[in-house]
Amino acid sequence: MTDLNIAPDHDRLLIIDFGSQVTQLIARRLRELNVYCEIHPFQLVDAAFLKGFAPKAVIFSGGPCSVIDDGSPRPPDAVFELGVPILGICYGQQVMMQMLGGEVTRGHGTAEFGRAYVSPEGRLPLLDGWFKEDKEQVWMSHGDHVARIAPGFEVYGTSPNAPYAITADTARNFYAVQFHPEVHHTPNGAKLYENFVKMAGFTGDWTMGAYREQAIAAIRDQVGDGRVICALSGGVDSSVAAVLIHEAIGAQLTCVYVDHGLMRKNESAEVVGMFREHYNLPLIHADESELFLGELDSVSDPETKRKIIGKLFIDVFEKHAKEIGGAEFLAQGTLYPDVIESVSFSGGPSVTIKSHHNVGGLPEKMGMKLVEPLRELFKDEVRALGRELGLPDSFIGRHPFPGPGLAIRCPGEITRQKLDILREADAVYIDQIRKHGLYDEIWQAFTAILPVKTVGVMGDGRTYDFACALRAVTSVDGMTADYYPFTHEFLGETATRIINEVPGINRVTYDITSKPPGTIEWE
Ligand code: XMP
Repeated sequence: MTDLNIAPDHDRLLIIDFGSQVTQLIARRLRELNVYCEIHPFQLVDAAFLKGFAPKAVIFSGGPCSVIDDGSPRPPDAVFELGVPILGICYGQQVMMQMLGGEVTRGHGTAEFGRAYVSPEGRLPLLDGWFKEDKEQVWMSHGDHVARIAPGFEVYGTSPNAPYAITADTARNFYAVQFHPEVHHTPNGAKLYENFVKMAGFTGDWTMGAYREQAIAAIRDQVGDGRVICALSGGVDSSVAAVLIHEAIGAQLTCVYVDHGLMRKNESAEVVGMFREHYNLPLIHADESELFLGELDSVSDPETKRKIIGKLFIDVFEKHAKEIGGAEFLAQGTLYPDVIESVSFSGGPSVTIKSHHNVGGLPEKMGMKLVEPLRELFKDEVRALGRELGLPDSFIGRHPFPGPGLAIRCPGEITRQKLDILREADAVYIDQIRKHGLYDEIWQAFTAILPVKTVGVMGDGRTYDFACALRAVTSVDGMTADYYPFTHEFLGETATRIINEVPGINRVTYDITSKPPGTIEWE
């Protein structure tokens, strides 16, 4: 856990998570309204927590449980005594009704899954801008339903299967809806959140400008005159974290760029050059390509490649940390989705925190404390902060690039010759994508050099060269992906360019596998 506390002066909204798949979307909608919010699992929210957090409003998320069941998740009673507006969504509505004296049942024919239409019943400020037609499309996903609303509540919207689709106790400022306003399929849902935070008195003070100032103050506070070291990869997260920390503490930060010899064409020069030119921050360019490529010689198994690279990375990083006389802090570009504590219904308060941003357990091994100035931010907020800090757009919009680099784009044994050919082919491919204005539409694109040679004919001669595969996918988070539907014209032009411009390749294929069943990378 970090000691950074970045948002103490902001209006804060608390989202109590009951385990819905879409709780993060509630936070996204609120952040888009410049409202600072945090998601906390219900098990960790008690009266003392509420007092400390001091929310200006509370939202109860949806969830997979049934309030009728014994031991089903509940917020603490104290939440209803805070005197702040509360909005309950789906399970959140049901839990609110049950706790405040209403009734929830599991009846026949009242489950609703999917698109539904809500009609108005009277006027409610929460619904300003709604019902321009006489009904609103919403997304329902519930088995149980409210059979009797709690005393003090009135109905403001109904759907064929949810007579209490929208309810409110306007005297206490409690609102409860059966549908999910945060999802795309409730097209006007954002308006409902906008009205809710307006009624709660939020001023929209969560801007990247404000964040930058506060993050800088918090970093100074945490680090004092200590030294910080940061592994810079050239990716968006580590770059933004480094620039922000540099702005806070200047030369107390040293960045280490580990060049494993598996970067793309000109990539190391571009990353190091950009940082040296624009930011003048102490940056060690550790050219360790001989070491990495030597250890990877004759290795063909993908997981063995990853293990070797991961271990060498730590060795190299440690070596440079020692050379600069050690550091007390390690900076990491951990993002909010990685730290949201997930709700488990099986065994007590669960705190599964993903740790894949931890550089191979380095902090524990080296006894360092973490500085994670992006842990409150979503990816698009990190990009906005990067722009605020003056990072060039070309950096901010870069496609993700895996830590093991070209090693996993060179299936089978890695040779320097194959890496050189791959770099050239990939550069032509990415140039084509940029020239056709497609770079920002694509989530990730790259070339893999295949461990197979094929026969071709060029001019009067026979060729016997490598085949390569082009990959381009659309995705939201890399967990699932679809191949990008290039035109045949684009593919034909790109294949011709690669074969003409890249000696060593005489055949180009396009990978049209989705994930699943494929993965994005070839290894
Ligand atoms: P896959 O191939 O698993 O990739 O569909 C999903 C996303 O993760 C990246 N990737 C990695 N990133 N180390 C990384 O830092 C790895 O070992 C690794 N393997 C895959 C991949 O580029 C894609 O964005």
